[in-house]
Amino acid sequence: MIELDFANMMTDIIGENGLSERQVEALKPAAAKAHEEIASREKPGLAFMDLVKQDTSAIKDAAREIRNDSESFLILGIGGSALGPKTILEAMSPMHNLRKTPRVFIYDNVDPVTFENVLSLIDLDKTTVNVITKSGSTAETMSSFMVLYEKLKGRSGKVVATTDPEKGYLRQIAEADGFSKTLPIPPDVGGRYSVLCPVGLLLAEVAGVDCDELLAGAARMQERCSDPEPWKNPAYLYGSMLYLMDKEEKRNITVMVPYSDRLRPLAEWFCQLWSESLGKLGMGSTPYPSIGATDQHSQMQLWMEGPQDKVVTFIRVEDHGADITIPRVFKDTGVAYLGGHSLGELFNAEEEATELALATAGRPNMTLKVPKVDAAHMGELFYFFEIATAYTGFLYGINPFNQPSVEMSKNFTYGMMGRDGYEAQREEVEKARGRVTCWRL
Ligand code: PA5
Repeated sequence: MIELDFANMMTDIIGENGLSERQVEALKPAAAKAHEEIASREKPGLAFMDLVKQDTSAIKDAAREIRNDSESFLILGIGGSALGPKTILEAMSPMHNLRKTPRVFIYDNVDPVTFENVLSLIDLDKTTVNVITKSGSTAETMSSFMVLYEKLKGRSGKVVATTDPEKGYLRQIAEADGFSKTLPIPPDVGGRYSVLCPVGLLLAEVAGVDCDELLAGAARMQERCSDPEPWKNPAYLYGSMLYLMDKEEKRNITVMVPYSDRLRPLAEWFCQLWSESLGKLGMGSTPYPSIGATDQHSQMQLWMEGPQDKVVTFIRVEDHGADITIPRVFKDTGVAYLGGHSLGELFNAEEEATELALATAGRPNMTLKVPKVDAAHMGELFYFFEIATAYTGFLYGINPFNQPSVEMSKNFTYGMMGRDGYEAQREEVEKARGRVTCWRL
């Protein structure tokens, strides 16, 4: 079971930069309202809470076929349609392509160099392409799919489309074209809350992970996070702490630091979830991903002595699943003390030391303690962050399930790419180009 250690957020431990119990108590009426929003289930975006009890048989059947037929599995998606699969892959099957088949590629951008490299590495007769887009219209995903669709003509590679069950261009195309398979993204589950639906679960099964274990872990966390009382609900407490630090202590940067290479993409997944859900109407705190112990040699100086605007969340893994003893060599040197210890011991000692150093300097931090990185604990982590984000959105009084402000840049792009109906945006871009040249050296 994952535990949240928040001692280093409290004044009792870190002094005046911490929060008092009184502050958390005073938040209780707002917390009760946020809980009511969640429990009432009025906002359709809360549909991610139902994913724990889905039927996974179609996902398992599709994955079995892919494992049997395909040498490579290529995901095309972006944002919520790619970060979840990336996180599962790295956590559950690190360095996957060097060890296992089908090899997995996740192409989540429009960089032609990356795409060309991926294409040069796969055999289109032995590849399943999994195109993932909830809306079915995202330009980045659909443009790379269009390239592959053309290339797949006359080849025996297959396509699985993961998209809305009824709406969108991809659904239309899949139905007209008779794709090998389609898998549904439940209509009310938003992209960044979709890791525990076919978006992430198909990849999990293809990579040899039992997706029901992910869901079982998520269900366990759901149970723990159903208590209305913030002191008894780890996700509510986590959200309350970050909210109070932002609103009352002006700490509006949240640093996510897993001490596990396998959890590096989890920090990126969290950052998208937190940013796109909460960054609205001038509110939200800015998340940034980091990695221990590496960033102790890069960013830690800033956390310790820079502006008093950050809260650090560590993710500590108790059992890394492998360990290596450091041999007792170099006996007469200053590094002899390392001999006889293990790398896992050093890794966890560094994590604990960093927590303590920050606390001693009066810098607030919290730690999520994860017993080990397996499917059930990944499910717990996903659900924990999703419900914490939704709850925090309700504390801010914003809708954590929309993303109104990503539209403007999309519309300018449509204008530049000549999409009908976006002529005004094209004109605006041209005007702006003129303006910018005056200030170029
Ligand atoms: O969280 C979100 O809604 C977004 O990040 C989407 O996942 C992203 O824009 C991709 O959208 P789609 O799945 O429709 O292609």
